[in-house]
Amino acid sequence: MQSNKDEKTYRVRKLEITDKNKGFMELLQQLTVCGSVSDDEFQKRFEELRSYGDDHVICVIEDTSSSKIVATGSVFLEKKFIRSCGKVGHIEDVVVDSSARGMQLGKKVVSFLADHACLMGCYKVILDCSVDNKAFYEKCGFKEKEIQMVKYFI
Ligand SMILES: CC(C)(COP(=O)(O)OP(=O)(O)OC[C@H]1O[C@@H](n2cnc3c(N)ncnc32)[C@H](O)[C@@H]1OP(=O)(O)O)[C@@H](O)C(=O)NCCC(=O)NCCS
Repeated sequence: MQSNKDEKTYRVRKLEITDKNKGFMELLQQLTVCGSVSDDEFQKRFEELRSYGDDHVICVIEDTSSSKIVATGSVFLEKKFIRSCGKVGHIEDVVVDSSARGMQLGKKVVSFLADHACLMGCYKVILDCSVDNKAFYEKCGFKEKEIQMVKYFI
């Protein structure tokens, strides 16, 4: 998938192993604490996630003029017994580089992930977000439902 804006070309695709050298981890740092991840650790986690196939997909958007990853998000599919052994998609870790916000890239990432969950037969796709991002996800077609609970272990 290609799109142009201000002479830049953006490519929407799945994460590739070489994306670590294209600023993928630095982008995630704009979302939360990432800690240090060595090339070996990255490769192991990448292979592990790849072994889940369509059940775990990480979407990235690459600015092809700079070869930088400027947006990302992930979705994993939870298999359930309810709803006739139905599946639920969980969207996580959506972030757009601060220099590329406001250009519909976040919306493209969320749409890529939600479309994937839908194509894989999920009956719904869900995510947690801050109050500040509620309007963004509404623009992506989501609606508020219930509340989020958390228990941290570290
Ligand atoms: C939230 C975030 C992903 C949005 O990405 P983005 O690429 O700037 O958003 P888009 O350009 O795709 O915006 C899509 C629409 O949502 C609107 N929108 C985006 N962020 C918004 C916000 N915080 N409040 C209200 N509306 C917002 C845009 O105006 C746009 O509206 P339009 O379609 O009518 O033009 C980005 O700001 C970001 O990475 N923030 C920091 C990390 C973060 O909070 N991630 C979310 C974790 S849940």
